[in-house]
Amino acid sequence: MNRETIEMLTEKRFHRWRWTGGLLLLLCSTLIMAHSGASGVVKQRMELMKSVGKEMKTIAAMVKGEQPLDAAKVREGAALIASRSGEVEALFPRDSLMQPTEALPAIWDRWPEFSELTQRLQQEAEQLGRKAEEGDRRELLRQFAALGKVCSGCHTDFRKKQE
Ligand code: HEC
Repeated sequence: MNRETIEMLTEKRFHRWRWTGGLLLLLCSTLIMAHSGASGVVKQRMELMKSVGKEMKTIAAMVKGEQPLDAAKVREGAALIASRSGEVEALFPRDSLMQPTEALPAIWDRWPEFSELTQRLQQEAEQLGRKAEEGDRRELLRQFAALGKVCSGCHTDFRKKQE
């Protein structure tokens, strides 16, 4: 191969690389934007849900025995969930379906049900805190499941199906 051919090939490869790289970059930024694109109440409620999810994960590890059980920590997490449950309704103003929300319009068609679920969330979380204090592990696990059921119950009816 002479030098010219080599140069030509390198040039070609470089262009292809640049093109692929650019495309990848575009794709990544679109994906990132899709998620961070949330604003206003949608963003606030997504963040609320995320923080509640984080507490649930921490508690799950303890009640399932993957982490040492720390009753104070369970109580703390449960209290946080209970207190945040009081903020949920205000973050779902009528027909707030701005992208990239996963909320379903059924929320406003069946508002009393939705509202009731936020109250149950609070009650079950408070109950979890009490069970942590009492220290019966089996009861604690049962109450954790009851709380988890409120989460999934609401998601089933009022949140887009997750792929
Ligand atoms: C009263 C109904 C309701 C209850 C109860 C509820 N959620 Fe949600 N949750 C929703 C809705 C609606 C969305 C979608 C919000 C949106 O995208 O605008 C959601 C979204 C989420 C998300 C995704 C957040 C994101 O980043 O987009 C997580 C995680 C989550 N919920 C966890 C939980 C956990 C854990 C519990 C229970 C401790 C719980 N939720 C209880 C209604 C509920």
